[in-house]
Amino acid sequence: MRKPLIAGNWKMNMTPTEAKTFIANFINQNLDSDIEVAVIPPFVDLEIISREIKGTKIKLGAQNMCWEDNGAYTGEISPLMLKEIGVEYVIIGHSERRGYFKEDDTMLNLKMKACQKHGLKPILCVGETLEEREKGMTLDRIGYELTEDLKDITLKELVIAYEPIWAIGTGKNASPEDAQAVIEYIRKKADELLGIGEDIRILYGGSVKSDNIKGFMAREGIDGALVGGASLKVDEFTRIVNFKEV
Ligand code: 13P
Repeated sequence: MRKPLIAGNWKMNMTPTEAKTFIANFINQNLDSDIEVAVIPPFVDLEIISREIKGTKIKLGAQNMCWEDNGAYTGEISPLMLKEIGVEYVIIGHSERRGYFKEDDTMLNLKMKACQKHGLKPILCVGETLEEREKGMTLDRIGYELTEDLKDITLKELVIAYEPIWAIGTGKNASPEDAQAVIEYIRKKADELLGIGEDIRILYGGSVKSDNIKGFMAREGIDGALVGGASLKVDEFTRIVNFKEV
């Protein structure tokens, strides 16, 4: 039985002061205990959030990490640093990292291996551009990303997020039917590559809000959501987590 995961990727938003205010309010919300909830803030907010969520069920994630343990990698953050402050999940290969920061699949495979080595749980992001979708190449692109990023990976706990690039921050979401079809393919491919397709949680991400979450969660095989903009407001993120009540 896969426990649904709803994770808020804050991206480059919230100063430590703002993060503290957010989390102080969020931990007082009555959250559905059947849903695993994670917040994924910028690096500088991690420590403060880690302290505030102690003793709650809220999980902590990081948005990126280096594949090396330490060394001359100016500007990078290592898995050891993340582990020490209580990080459990790490987003690997978000399309904004692949696009703006030129992270390629070879690099992402090294990051996946670093997660495996240090017992961090990756949330591996895959997804197609609008052009690829229109050319009917969605599954080719995702199949390629999975094959490359999961090379030599033997992880038993892994989350994959299907985030169509054209749906991120645009207000245009994939239909639940379309998301479900791609997610079904991802599960098949992950099973082929790792032999654990049924155990992998696969999330949908891309313009998820409190008024569309229910449609995604109702679909068999969609195990949760990676939420961007709508995770920045306590009320809205709480409504998303508590979608069964809406
Ligand atoms: P939005 O929810 O703002 O579209 O962002 C999705 C996303 O990229 C989450 O990682």
